[in-house]
Amino acid sequence: MTMQSEVAQQQDMQTESGGIRAVIRARRSRFPAEYTGARLDDDVVRQVLECANWAPTHKLTEPWRFAVYCDDALPRLFDQFARIYRETTPPERQVQAKLDKFAALPDKVSHVVALIMRRDPARRVPEIEEICAVACAVQNMHLALADFPGAGGYWSTGSGAFTPHMAEWLGLSADDRCLGFFYLGSVPAEPRSGRRGPVDRKIEWVRN
Ligand SMILES: Cc1cc2nc3c(=O)[nH]c(=O)nc-3n(C[C@H](O)[C@H](O)[C@H](O)COP(=O)(O)O)c2cc1C
Repeated sequence: MTMQSEVAQQQDMQTESGGIRAVIRARRSRFPAEYTGARLDDDVVRQVLECANWAPTHKLTEPWRFAVYCDDALPRLFDQFARIYRETTPPERQVQAKLDKFAALPDKVSHVVALIMRRDPARRVPEIEEICAVACAVQNMHLALADFPGAGGYWSTGSGAFTPHMAEWLGLSADDRCLGFFYLGSVPAEPRSGRRGPVDRKIEWVRN
């Protein structure tokens, strides 16, 4: 057996037995519709955020900040979402079901983490790099959840419609940004299966 095929075989075994590649492929966004309503331990959320804190960061600016909403803060947060929805959606396009959904969320969701990009005061790296670093932190959150089978979560931006308004509500300075919200809740163990187009259509090998 060549060295290369030995390595490939070891890697396949790791994938089968739950190595990091298997965790990456099995990761799924878990949405509030499937949350049971049971509250997660704050320590689970803290451990997930501890993993977020180990994301790569250019010049070690560590631009991620997290505001964790739980308990009595949840109705307050979702009231705010509903207010923004009412204020920013033309009346003829407002849907009552959407407002009802916000009202029901505090009974489903356990914690909501506001994902904040805190701009390096010295601006040592371009803003896009700070945003990328926070996105890496969010992926770490997703992957860390694999260690807590009864917990699930997803990143919500509401297609970016809410986030500038929420930045103001969160009291962020003009240089900082709200990049969305990570919802967390208790979930049944088995996630739905994922779907992606083949990677080979997304790769161009450049050899000379
Ligand atoms: C930056 C970002 C923003 C997202 N915002 C939303 C959102 O507002 N609403 C939503 O339902 N899903 C949102 N998602 C999650 C996607 O719906 C989800 O990743 C996609 O359906 C693929 O499913 P999977 O994560 O389980 O593979 C967001 C994902 C990313 C990366």
